[in-house]
Amino acid sequence: MATVTLDPSGSFLTIEGLRFHAIWLRDNAPDPETRAAGNGQRLIALRDIPAETTISAAEVQGAGLSVTFAPEDKTVTFDLNWLNTHAYDRPASSARGWTAPEIEPWDANLMGNVPIGDFAELTKGGEALRIWLGQIKQYGFGKVVNGPVKDGALFDVVDLFGFVRETNYGRHFEVRTEVNPTNLAFTGLGLQAHTDNPYRDPVPSVQVLYCLESSAAGGENMVVDGFAAALRLREENETYFNVLANHCARFEYAGEDGVCLTSRRPMIELAPDGALIGVRFNNRSLAAVTDVPFDQMATYYAAYRRLGEIIDDEAMEVTFRLEPGEGFVVDNTRVLHARKGYSGEGTRWLQGCYSDLDGLRSTHDAMARATHKEAAE
Ligand code: FE2
Repeated sequence: MATVTLDPSGSFLTIEGLRFHAIWLRDNAPDPETRAAGNGQRLIALRDIPAETTISAAEVQGAGLSVTFAPEDKTVTFDLNWLNTHAYDRPASSARGWTAPEIEPWDANLMGNVPIGDFAELTKGGEALRIWLGQIKQYGFGKVVNGPVKDGALFDVVDLFGFVRETNYGRHFEVRTEVNPTNLAFTGLGLQAHTDNPYRDPVPSVQVLYCLESSAAGGENMVVDGFAAALRLREENETYFNVLANHCARFEYAGEDGVCLTSRRPMIELAPDGALIGVRFNNRSLAAVTDVPFDQMATYYAAYRRLGEIIDDEAMEVTFRLEPGEGFVVDNTRVLHARKGYSGEGTRWLQGCYSDLDGLRSTHDAMARATHKEAAE
């Protein structure tokens, strides 16, 4: 049985070696006067809790911890499992660029293990969908196969997890390529791996690309894990990693009338506690960088160049060919994508659109919680 000890000051208690502050416990009390039973939303504001709140008594009762708060003289029972999963008395990660355990950086070795969902199975909405969405959270991308070959089929893919994010390019955009022998000289044209639309703020966090026609040779799709690239840069040269994380780049798109999209964000984005949370990399839309001090600019450009070389390294890339009825979903805050060059004649028709990660995570996590609950019952 768990043991609880109360600090004589009443300002915190310790259970199973984990400390919890009185004010934290009181704010997170699960009782029906603090939290709405139906939607779990908090019914009180912090101003309703006395600043001098302390714990006057604490006792383990079965799978619960009963805590009495002063001066309110209010007793609340916490679930011990809940306390354990929400404990914050753990050593903080000191590494700049740490990633959450559910994120798995990858390189070309992922090639044989690309997350793939069968469209018909995903549409049923059960286990197959939950696993596929979980893999997109983990790896930052996933393929869908055996889908319909019809105009707008990519919206059916978005419907699996969220909502289309409309932009000035419309609800979706067309990627049509006709390759003919007379301009073969141009068919080698591939694109450097990039994240899309870094000039938007917030950036579209999901992109869906879906293939409707593919008779041209070549033109494979390629993805690179931007987190893995950033972490490799850190391993090679911490100064390079830091200069890209510590300074904002600028991105811009003003390529059509009435549109002037600008953003000021770093290429490697860290949370205040050092967590790696985003990568922006797009040579076509990088604007003049003006937020790096003069004495750092040469290092900044050396770091930007090296990050590009890492991204271009074949050891980092996973390639696959999209056939009609196949598509992929990519976490645009993390995974870069590109198209390889063409080497023959024919046509290629893809449709693309944007969506957002919050919807994808929500769909996955709601399914995961429901599964967890079922298993527990
Ligand atoms: Fe793109």
